[in-house]
Formats: sequence, C-alpha cells, structure tokens
Amino acid sequence: MSVLFTPVRLRDLEMRNRIWVSPMCEYSCEQQDGLANEWHLVHLGSRAVGGAGLVMTEATAVTPEGRISPHDLGIWSDAHADALCPSARFIEAHGAAPAIQLAHAGRKASTPRPWEGGGKAVDPSEGGWTPGAPSALPYAPGYAEPHAYTTAEVRAVVDAFAAAAARSARAGFRAVEVHAAHGYLLHEFLSPLTNQRTDEYGGDFDGRTRLVVEVVRAVRDSFPRELPVLVRLSVSEYVEGGWGVDDSVELACRLKAAGVDLVDCSSGGNLPQQRLQAYPGYQVPFARAVRERAGIATGAVGLITAPEQAEAIVASGEADVVLMGRELLRNPYWPLHAARVLRAEVEWPKQYLRAKL
Ligand SMILES: Cc1cc2nc3c(=O)[nH]c(=O)nc-3n(C[C@H](O)[C@H](O)[C@H](O)COP(=O)(O)O)c2cc1C
Repeated sequence: MSVLFTPVRLRDLEMRNRIWVSPMCEYSCEQQDGLANEWHLVHLGSRAVGGAGLVMTEATAVTPEGRISPHDLGIWSDAHADALCPSARFIEAHGAAPAIQLAHAGRKASTPRPWEGGGKAVDPSEGGWTPGAPSALPYAPGYAEPHAYTTAEVRAVVDAFAAAAARSARAGFRAVEVHAAHGYLLHEFLSPLTNQRTDEYGGDFDGRTRLVVEVVRAVRDSFPRELPVLVRLSVSEYVEGGWGVDDSVELACRLKAAGVDLVDCSSGGNLPQQRLQAYPGYQVPFARAVRERAGIATGAVGLITAPEQAEAIVASGEADVVLMGRELLRNPYWPLHAARVLRAEVEWPKQYLRAKL
C-alpha cells in the first residue's frame, strides 16, 4: 500500500495525500499592487485539480517592502485577503488544503522579476524601494544596500506577520507557513554572518533566533488553534561559520514548543559564496535529521520528481510529506500519474473521469 497516498493529519486538518505544492513565486501582480488575480487562481487551482494534498501560495509579503519583486503577492491589507479568497476556496473545493506562505524578503527585496534580469536592485523610478534587514549588508554587488531595522521596526515585523496570519484565516487558508529560509528576512536574523546586531535580536543563538520565535508565537496566537502552522528553514546555509544543521535542530525544538506542527526543510540562499551541490533528493537528509533529532514532523523538498522516489522518502520515515516545485510546474497532474504508478486508488476530478488512466 502506498504511504504517499495515505492521508496525513496536522491538528484538525486532514490532507488526502503527502504530495504538497511547494511555494513558488509567480511575479504576476502586473499592477505592482500585491493583489491576487486570475493567474494565481488558475495556477494554484490547477494543482488542486491535479490531485495534490496541499497547495501553497508563493511567498506572500506581510508588508509592501517585504516583497522580493514589485510583482509579488501581498497580504498586508484586508483587500489583499479578499483577493486571495477565490484561490483558497477553489483549492479546497477540489480536495486540497489551501495554505499560504507568509514572507518578508529582507535585504533580498526590491529585485526585478527573473525574466527582467533578477539579481539586482529595482530603481525607485520603476517601483523599487530600500529594503530592511538585520544589518546594513547588501546580499551581493548590485543589490540595494539595506537599512538596518531599529528595534522598534523589528517588533513591527512581528505584528505584521501576526496580522497577516489573521487575514489568512479569514481568506480561507487552512495552514500558514512562516518563511524563515532562503536568505530572506527571518533567515538573515538567524545567521551570524548576516546578523551583526547588538540589541536583543542579535548576538548569541538566543538573540538571533528571537525574531523567528516571536513571529511564530504571534502567528500561532493569530491563527485558529485547530489549524497547523508550518515553518520553512534553510537547514544549512553551506558556508563555514554560518547557520547549520545543529542550529536548525535546536531551533526546531524551540519551534515545536512554540506550537509549530511541521518544519519544511530547505537549504541555502543566504550568502552568494555558498557551496551547494544539488542532486535528486539532496535536502532529504535535512528533513530526516530534524525529524529524528527534534521529534517534529518534517517536509522534504528539492529535486523530488519520481513517484518511487517520493514514496521511498515517506515510507522510510525520512519525512512526513514531500513538497514539489518544478516537477509540478511541468505537470500539475503529477499526483494522478503517480497514483497509477504506485497503484493507489485516488478520486479523479469528475470532469476528467473519461481520461482516467
Ligand atoms: C519559480 C520558483 C519560485 C519559487 N518561489 C519560492 C517561494 O516563493 N518560496 C519558497 O520558499 N521557495 C520558493 N521556491 C523554491 C521551491 O519552493 C522549492 O523549494 C525548490 O524549487 C526545490 O524544489 P524542486 O526541485 O521540486 O523545484 C521557488 C522555486 C521556483 C522554481
């Protein structure tokens, strides 16, 4: 019997299988207003129709300056939550759990869309802004020099995440994921290489993890108790002297105590000098280490593309779920194909029954 197609439960939320759509920026708010539109509905909706157990939005900014590009989704007002409602409703109507990734891009904010050059600062005349970060250290040459947040501004970030979580629930999302990976704001606070603060949000491990823990507690308090809160971590940043696996395990223990239900285990993205070798399932050992050593449910992500590979990851107990990105962009119906390969009985969308494999 396939474990991949066995339902998984976090708090009161049951998901029909263990294939989750990994958050993926679409850079598709053409008006630079952060409001979801038809693209987001069709993109997210297709993957629910395709059979995933959970469909997560892209990194959705909790403040305007927390967007990676001017074209990212946002949830900093009630109008933003209203615009996301149709996507959440459609995903749920088609059997998947609607989830939202809440994010702040930190010093990697205000960059152009990848197809417009990426990797540099957007000029203010084209909608760019000065990013905020733990310390005034640009990510790489060409990126904007960030403003080092004051202590009061850091506290305002906590409030922005909390307000976004409350709006997410009102919009119909059944799970929220706090984005603390890939070198965005929360990850920048975690790493001693990007956090040089001298206030209570910097310094030793307790100081550097304070913001993430406060954000998670505030999000947990603002989101319905019966629904799960997830956190995405870069379990290693692949740089000597930087954030690593032991740090992530210790943080995962604290996040579990703060009410987090699952750690989504990614890696890298904080420093351009990282030495990363990507191969099929390259981040699975991180999911396994956090699961075993912190005793918390984990998600594995990264170059998971084959049904047997995904099945082996959850069946062996390396992770509780798999998150898939690019393979699900190539083929939104991947879960339906995988079910056939793994001989699992799944419900097809009734509109598509005549095509059932
Ligand atoms: C187009 C694209 C956009 C992405 N945007 C996000 C994002 O918004 N938040 C995030 O945590 N990861 C993002 N990622 C990373 C993916 O969620 C995933 O972790 C990564 O692609 C590795 O998984 P894969 O090999 O299955 O694609 C993005 C990846 C791609 C390809």
